[in-house]
Amino acid sequence: MKEQVEKLNKKKEQALLGGGQKRIDDQHKKGKLTARERLDLLMDAGSFEEIGALVEHRGRDFGIDKEIYLGDGVVTGYGTINGRIVYVFSQDFTVFGGSLSETHAEKICKIMDLAMKNGAPVIGLNDSGGARIQEGVVSLGGYADIFYRNTVASGVIPQISAILGPCAGGAVYSPAITDFIMMVEQTSYMFVTGPNVVKTVTHEDVTSEELGGAYAHASKSGVTHFTYANEVECINSIKRLVSYMPQNCDEQAPVYDYEEGNEVREKLNTVIPANPNQPYDIREVITEIVDGDSFHEVHKDYAENIVVGFARIGGRSIGVVANQPAVLAGVLDINSSKKGARFVRFCDCFNIPLLTLVDVPGFLPGTDQEWHGIITNGAKLLYAFSEATVPKITVIVRKAYGGAYDVMNSKHIGADMNYAWPNAEIAVMGAKGAAEIIFKKEISSAENKVAKLKEVVDAYAENFANPYKAAARGFVDEVIEPSQTRAKLIRAFKMMENKAVKLPRKKHGNIPL
Ligand code: HXC
Repeated sequence: MKEQVEKLNKKKEQALLGGGQKRIDDQHKKGKLTARERLDLLMDAGSFEEIGALVEHRGRDFGIDKEIYLGDGVVTGYGTINGRIVYVFSQDFTVFGGSLSETHAEKICKIMDLAMKNGAPVIGLNDSGGARIQEGVVSLGGYADIFYRNTVASGVIPQISAILGPCAGGAVYSPAITDFIMMVEQTSYMFVTGPNVVKTVTHEDVTSEELGGAYAHASKSGVTHFTYANEVECINSIKRLVSYMPQNCDEQAPVYDYEEGNEVREKLNTVIPANPNQPYDIREVITEIVDGDSFHEVHKDYAENIVVGFARIGGRSIGVVANQPAVLAGVLDINSSKKGARFVRFCDCFNIPLLTLVDVPGFLPGTDQEWHGIITNGAKLLYAFSEATVPKITVIVRKAYGGAYDVMNSKHIGADMNYAWPNAEIAVMGAKGAAEIIFKKEISSAENKVAKLKEVVDAYAENFANPYKAAARGFVDEVIEPSQTRAKLIRAFKMMENKAVKLPRKKHGNIPL
């Protein structure tokens, strides 16, 4: 037995070394951590249990059979983050550039299957040169096996992808199907075709970083939800992100302690500027309402005219969706609709109640928006809110105009509680635009057109640009003093703790993709 144990320990030591010290040093020189160093940072100390450390690839071509690295370029297993089980894979760039072989894919599939059977999140730390070129189609098949599992697991268990190196070609589609993507500036990139192919096909000169780096995907494509200056920040943020989520779609997110006491927030009475056209940062409203330091913004640099993110209120996780008057006056457009819809659907999958803060002047007009499909894309947000069955609360903090009033979680599409602040304006459009249309004749025939316009605009605003018509109909349940908002929301979310709504039986809906 002693001999066998010695042999085992030797193999284990070999597996720990990955592709060898030189390649580990190269990885560090690039400003990257190794697969195992990343896991050490991510998991609770001593909790990681490795699965498949002794796996060997089965490649036989191009002399690859002479190069065997135990584990085959991916460290897989399970462990805990803040005491809660997660399944992880961490690609090891020191072994064939982290490329995905048949066996590498099998290891990832194995932990995904375990995660599904046992109802816990999967976290992927991606750092890979893509399909193992020497293995050909079995490697492509391995990718597809993963994509299929990503899809089946979607909405059942949370899936998070950190991109910590290259992620190119079809390999990008596994992260793309997962719920959240994170990237690190300067050391990670994602693209379907790299700079060389781009140069050949479109004659564009572009670097990897410009084409598919963290900045490009955070602000231009919206592919990544989070970006970080370094891997340590990125990995710490994964731990924070999972704290808002349940383990699976049949559970609730963990409840945290919060400082109970006076829930009145006087600052909310003065946060909205007196002039209805003056911008302000909706984050000031969000952070006043939710538990201290609990707001965790998602997709921060993309479609900034809408703000989405996780938070806690009374210790419980919620998803916040809020128009952002500081950017494009908070108007809804294609990108903000897609961003909002995706976030709403995540929250609904995982039983995270929704808080919607409304200050929206409508949809963005123009040929660009119409020709790129604001109709289909705006409908995504409408659809997502309508189908969400989690507790849904809306607070209209200023404007709620036109179709955007309906879309932003109105009573009509299933919101449970709708509040408005006293300065709210709920109407088909702004007072000036509306008055100019319906009083066109009166204005043009008036001696003093400016005075007449002012008179009819004031009359319209007095009549319609307030929350009381909506409250009289019950479309708004209560008009509240802003400072009372937090207290009201804590109670209302608690009131709905056991909400149970079943939509009609169907295979699945057909969201306008
Ligand atoms: C096998 C690979 C590999 C791969 C890298 N290596 N990618 N081995 N298959 N796909 C090996 C290298 O030969 C090298 O081995 C080691 O990993 C490190 O690679 P370097 O090139 O030295 O590193 P670096 O300069 O950092 O460049 C990283 C890289 C580059 C940009 C990822 O290696 C690269 O372009 N690789 C090929 C990428 C690619 O075309 N992949 C296929 C994409 S198509 P040694 O022994 O020298 O250390 C695809 C389709 C998926 O993935 C489809 C799914 C449906």
